[in-house]
Amino acid sequence: MKKSLFSTLLHSGACCAQILALLAGLAVSAADIDSRPSQKLLMDEGWKFHLGDDWGLAERLDKAGVNLGPASRTFGDAGWRKINLPHDWAIELPFDSSADMGHGYKPVGPGFHSNDVGWYRRTFILPETDKGRRLWIQFDGVFRDCRVFFNGFLIGHHESGYSSFRYDVTDLAECGGENTLAVRVDASQFEGWFYEGAGIYRHVWLLKSGPLFVAPDGVFVYGQFPKNIPQGPATIHLETALKNGQTNSAHAEIAWQIVDPAGKTTARAKASRELKPWDCQTVLGRTTVHAPVLWSPESPKLYKLIITVTSGGKVVDRTETEFGIRTCAFDADKGFLLNGKPYEIKGTCNHQDHAGVGAAIPDALQYFRVRRLKDMGDNAVRTSHNAPTPEWLEACDRLGLLVMDENRLLGSDAANLICLDEQIHRDRNHPSVVIWSLFNEENLQGTAVGARCAETMQLLVHALDPTRLCTAAASEGDVSEGVNGVLDVRGWNYHVGTEDSYHAKHPKQPNIGTEQASTLCTRGIYAVDKKRGYMTSYDDTGPGWGNTAESWWKVYATRPWLSGGFVWTGFDYRGEPTPYRWPCISSHFGIMDTCGFAKDNFYYYQAWWGDRPVLHLLPHWNWAGREGQDIDVRCFSNCEEVELFLNGQSLGRKTMPVNSHLQWSVKYTPGTLSARGFKAGQVIAEDKVETTGAPAAIRLTADRTSLHTGAEDVSVVTVAVVDEKGRIVPTADNLMGLDLTGSGQILGVGNGDPSCHEPDTFVPSQPSHKIALNDWRMKQVQNTGKRPKMPERFDDSQWDKVDVQPESGPLGPDESALFATHFVATAQDMAAKSITINFGRIDDDGWVYVNGHLVGESHDWNAEPFFEVRKFMQQGRNTIAVALRNWEGQGGINKGVALEVQDKPEPVRWQRSAFNGLAQVIVQAGQEQGSLHLTAHAEGLKDGAINITSASDSPLAGQP
Ligand code: GAL
Repeated sequence: MKKSLFSTLLHSGACCAQILALLAGLAVSAADIDSRPSQKLLMDEGWKFHLGDDWGLAERLDKAGVNLGPASRTFGDAGWRKINLPHDWAIELPFDSSADMGHGYKPVGPGFHSNDVGWYRRTFILPETDKGRRLWIQFDGVFRDCRVFFNGFLIGHHESGYSSFRYDVTDLAECGGENTLAVRVDASQFEGWFYEGAGIYRHVWLLKSGPLFVAPDGVFVYGQFPKNIPQGPATIHLETALKNGQTNSAHAEIAWQIVDPAGKTTARAKASRELKPWDCQTVLGRTTVHAPVLWSPESPKLYKLIITVTSGGKVVDRTETEFGIRTCAFDADKGFLLNGKPYEIKGTCNHQDHAGVGAAIPDALQYFRVRRLKDMGDNAVRTSHNAPTPEWLEACDRLGLLVMDENRLLGSDAANLICLDEQIHRDRNHPSVVIWSLFNEENLQGTAVGARCAETMQLLVHALDPTRLCTAAASEGDVSEGVNGVLDVRGWNYHVGTEDSYHAKHPKQPNIGTEQASTLCTRGIYAVDKKRGYMTSYDDTGPGWGNTAESWWKVYATRPWLSGGFVWTGFDYRGEPTPYRWPCISSHFGIMDTCGFAKDNFYYYQAWWGDRPVLHLLPHWNWAGREGQDIDVRCFSNCEEVELFLNGQSLGRKTMPVNSHLQWSVKYTPGTLSARGFKAGQVIAEDKVETTGAPAAIRLTADRTSLHTGAEDVSVVTVAVVDEKGRIVPTADNLMGLDLTGSGQILGVGNGDPSCHEPDTFVPSQPSHKIALNDWRMKQVQNTGKRPKMPERFDDSQWDKVDVQPESGPLGPDESALFATHFVATAQDMAAKSITINFGRIDDDGWVYVNGHLVGESHDWNAEPFFEVRKFMQQGRNTIAVALRNWEGQGGINKGVALEVQDKPEPVRWQRSAFNGLAQVIVQAGQEQGSLHLTAHAEGLKDGAINITSASDSPLAGQP
């Protein structure tokens, strides 16, 4: 991905004021107009949002630049809600048992039209000095089917909810003035069978460059070694797409500079090109890094490629791209090879969904999730089942996880190939990405058509990226017909037990476990509860097609040629509540729950995937009422032997079978159940579970207590219900109130309970009341032009009374009239933040005035136009006038008119119950630096509290 100096600045601690200055263009002067680097400026803050399909598509197809309603520049959005991106409106809606199960019973999609369409608007100033620069708006992901309007023009229609897209707005931009971006998002159709969110759930960027520039996503850089074995110097492949957006030809010189992980320039190269106007050329270069520092999950060292473009003695562009030097390969016998050596993939599949925020995951939360996975011994992730958010890949590069980067659908049609092409261009510099997955479990996967499509897709990938192979997540056993016969690497979704015979028949084809396990566990539950929708946390159940952790891993761990595999899933996600339905709303497949709290299987994987001694006992030891009864006690450990004790008395020492677990049946007595793990006779690990007292207090801990100011950064706070001795009470379900003071906000809350219907987020209510405006008068006038002339002052007392309630009005074809009414605004009305005039219909063209000020116009006879008028109003008597022209049929002001006054919202009261002792709060820093204070309180418990600071010079989550 092309990254600029300025995006690096934005990601690396530039304060908000700096960012705003950059956005306003104050940091550059007109004198150096051609020598500024490409800029990548985050546009996440300051949006307005409206839920509801109130203006249809808002398009006018007959003329350009005059789109309607919120798509127009003059539209008043003062009554809309203020939001920051990323934003997922589905998460804000209540659960509904009649909504789609797979999507987590959120009322969006078929049958819920009132929640299907959302409008976003944002205005921003571009400085004069941007004249002559090329400008793009880039969307990293919008779910889904969106129409993007810029300064009233429709600039694009993008359907996929997962692919990134950008539009060149150079010609339409007002440099030195205000610009308006409006996005209509339609989430009425699904693209998957899992929770997908709704809205602009990834970043939006403003890209700027000089007229001779490195094309966005136009950089490709990678290291190569003889025979793909990293010994000795690395040859660095340099590829740069250069574009001349000027009216004259240009001579351009490119300088490539490679900066090593320690910050030292280690290699350089140069090239030059003649570019005709509008020419785009791919310039190739090559250089050598003599002692390359290799990238791996264990040592994720990153290089930087700085590209400087000069023309006529002036620097005209400069970009920075992070990359890593490493090799990857798949071998039919040895499995996956990283840097020339066999490397077992211990991976997880994940959807982009987290407690409290849904699909709208702030960058810092992406880093939190990568850290949780790594803590479990995970070394790889699959971006099931779609192109990922760029920051997820960035987090994998920087913290060290391998990535299987997945495309959404099988298909070689133009639309699918464009998506795939753009995904490869966007993601191919990431060292974390080691393989492309072309699709997941398609109906055509076993057919000749499927094979032909996959082959074409694979050809495209190879042409764009000669360094990586392709697979697909095919749910098939010993089957070679269809896609399996053509793909570089055979992918295995389930079908454990059929790999050996396939491998014997296809000994030259490498393999990988694209999706395994789907083990069903609920955190902290030890007896199946069908009514509440809980499984047990023992590693006992896989669905018909899946397996327990132990049963799939035992097979993969002993067959290196399978390359390892990816567990379905690392984290629980909303939807697919297998094996249940309502009231269960989220999946049980995760090794962690939706908050990232560990289920017991976390320790199974940590034991057999990680390299630290692990000893974990289950279940908890709070079984009041079951005294003397047998409890199924288990232990996940990588110790050679484990000895179990109850209240200090040994219950025997057992040898741990490799890739397995130990089990005891223990008669319950309250107290302490403990274990010691041995290696070569020495104790190397210990664990205990204790019978706790009753809930006594709340304890808050945070993953990070100093945040960077602004919307990208968050702190993930764990809320634990503890007993008097500070031990987490493993059955506690107290409802807790949450209060945050200081500069920041709570973004969302969760507890990992797959059947909890409490809200994830508390949206401030927007109470309003309406005042009907029924008393109108009308005077017919000559239409001297398109727009009837509106006198500055008028006396309407002699005009005709007119009823504005009917469906059609009094004017005939080509007739015009002035309409007027008056109303009295009270001091209380004037205290409202927003007051709109809502028309049922203005048929056909209308210009609306309040107290002589033009507040807006309407040119869609069938729309329900409304106009923000608060700032034009005064306390006491006000006048509304409409100059109206009817073109055909019967016209006028119809279907009623009302004033809508926004009342003061009720304060939001955040709350969440604990689930088996734990809950989570995601806290976002505000723009102002300072300190945030979060408290949690519940009846009968001592309050919990934590302080978090935010400062413009604190590092973001992804920074060292
Ligand atoms: C797979 C599918 C996943 C998920 C999983 C549940 O077959 O690829 O998306 O549905 O089953 O076990």
